[in-house]
Amino acid sequence: MAIRLGDIAPDFTAETTEGTIRFHEWIGDGWCVLFSHPKDFTPVCTTELGYMAKIKPEFEKRGVKILGLSVDPVSSHKEWSKDIEETQGQKPNYPLIADPERKIADLYDMIHPNALDTLTVRSVFVIGPDKKVKLTLTYPASTGRNFDEILRAIDSLQLTAKHSVATPVNWKSGEDVIIVPALSDEDAKKKFPDGWKAKKPYLRIVPQPR
Ligand code: BEZ
Repeated sequence: MAIRLGDIAPDFTAETTEGTIRFHEWIGDGWCVLFSHPKDFTPVCTTELGYMAKIKPEFEKRGVKILGLSVDPVSSHKEWSKDIEETQGQKPNYPLIADPERKIADLYDMIHPNALDTLTVRSVFVIGPDKKVKLTLTYPASTGRNFDEILRAIDSLQLTAKHSVATPVNWKSGEDVIIVPALSDEDAKKKFPDGWKAKKPYLRIVPQPR
């Protein structure tokens, strides 16, 4: 069954390029991005994994660990890492799960047989410190993901978690945000003592909290 937003991310134990990982324990008190790619030694995946290595500090700044997965073995991930370094300037500096038996791929519904026979599609799961799934995304093999967008979405998710605000269309960090509808005006006054601009009673705009 598909994993939905708000579900507890299924726990698992996996072999990775950095040893055995018990997923929930490995996440600890922070956030996590679990992302699959279809196959080692393929072009789009090579660019994606190199880029994730380059922007890993941006995830770390936000308290987010990153974890890749494909149905290839550890030996293949390690061999391919050399190509990633050669062509993208950076080899993966985060663990890659080896899932040749597709146990985790099946657990997370990462194989969509009508799109790609036995390989994982490009899935992304953002998981919060409560181990609940906060965001999911699925791209086909031929379309490389925009991982800057994942960072942007994490900024939004973390603002919601900390400050009860939502983010409007095409929002970028530093721009105004919206008080979540679940917060009454009375409670909003306590959180936002400087007030807000109400374009409609349900559209209450405040500067981004820091
Ligand atoms: C790629 O990464 O380029 C790719 C992987 C599997 C199928 C098609 C493309």
